[in-house]
Amino acid sequence: MQVSVKNVRKEFDRFPALHDVSLDIVSGELIALLGPSGSGKTTLLRLIAGLEYPTSGAIYFGDEDASHKSVQERNVGFVFQHYALFRHMTILENVSFGLKVRPRETRPAAAEIRRKALELLDLVQLSGLEKRYPNQLSGGQRQRVALARALAIEPRVLLLDEPFGALDAQVRRELRKWLREIHDRTGHTTVFVTHDQEEALELSDRLCVMSQGRIEQVGTPDDVYDRPASPFVFGFIGESSELPATVENGEFWVDGRAIGVAATDQAPGKGKLYFRPHDVDLVEADAALAGVVAGHRRVGGTRRVELSVGGDHRKVELDLPFDHPAGEKTRLAFRPRRWRFFPEAV
Ligand SMILES: Nc1ncnc2c1ncn2[C@@H]1O[C@H](COP(=O)(O)OP(=O)(O)OP(=O)(O)O)[C@@H](O)[C@H]1O
Ligand SMILES: [Mg+2]
Repeated sequence: MQVSVKNVRKEFDRFPALHDVSLDIVSGELIALLGPSGSGKTTLLRLIAGLEYPTSGAIYFGDEDASHKSVQERNVGFVFQHYALFRHMTILENVSFGLKVRPRETRPAAAEIRRKALELLDLVQLSGLEKRYPNQLSGGQRQRVALARALAIEPRVLLLDEPFGALDAQVRRELRKWLREIHDRTGHTTVFVTHDQEEALELSDRLCVMSQGRIEQVGTPDDVYDRPASPFVFGFIGESSELPATVENGEFWVDGRAIGVAATDQAPGKGKLYFRPHDVDLVEADAALAGVVAGHRRVGGTRRVELSVGGDHRKVELDLPFDHPAGEKTRLAFRPRRWRFFPEAV
């Protein structure tokens, strides 16, 4: 099911939680909403679900304006971070619930509901546990039951709000992989909210990066990571450093010195140069950036060094081989190999 969010604004007591948000969700894709706390992710998800209604703008399901339809009419399935299962019901009853409460005309026969619920429990790898109660399961198992329950109604759209938020890193990784497999098998349109950028990059077909009630960028993980559309996205996704720089005579200048990096396709003027720690080369040249090691730490197979650059001691991070001899106060010269320049707003 294709979902189109068109110019949606959402206010709570005049406080705008979303400003003019537009997003086309392609049928069958897995899209992640990613952004800092308070950026509007849950609000957008609840609007798509029909748990909230827009102050202005519209939400389409296919060609149909669903803006004022109920959750049931939209036929969405959702799982929230601390989504409580029904404690007094067995796992099988929990998964069957959405079908059992359907009006008689659309309710499948009892045997069919049972067959379907057991099939879903098999899909979420919980076969054999159908007679247990929620408090007899682990956290990760409960999340999988919640997902099976959401899938039982054959939703047109599956909405997940940090469904793995409360779980430890290893369980999260397993459930993530497994969610991707289920998504691929069932072909649902899935919208997934996460704080965790690694999770978003690994799991989604496309990411929607939000900040302060606005969408900053929508794109594939590669687009967003390699071609961030704004300083916010550059800083939010992945590790990055920034330095004030000027474009002049076709190259970059920092602190009044040319740094030996061609400013290809950039108009002259001031702005900020952004680059990632692993996109930096050490050089032996005068025309380069230089700084003094202020600290370093081991990150996986590399050593991440913090350099203090310029008179005002701006901090820049670079990755060196873990056995690089640089220690505190060592002076290093470097050049960003890949970078993005964002001109100052005029
Ligand atoms: N029911 C409400 N009444 C008033 N303000 C609300 C309500 N729901 C959300 N907000 C406000 O709207 C903004 C966006 O909230 P939202 O829950 O969508 O953020 P979020 O991106 O999901 O954050 P988090 O990552 O912390 O879950 C916040 O400033 C929040 O305080
Ligand atoms: Mg939220």
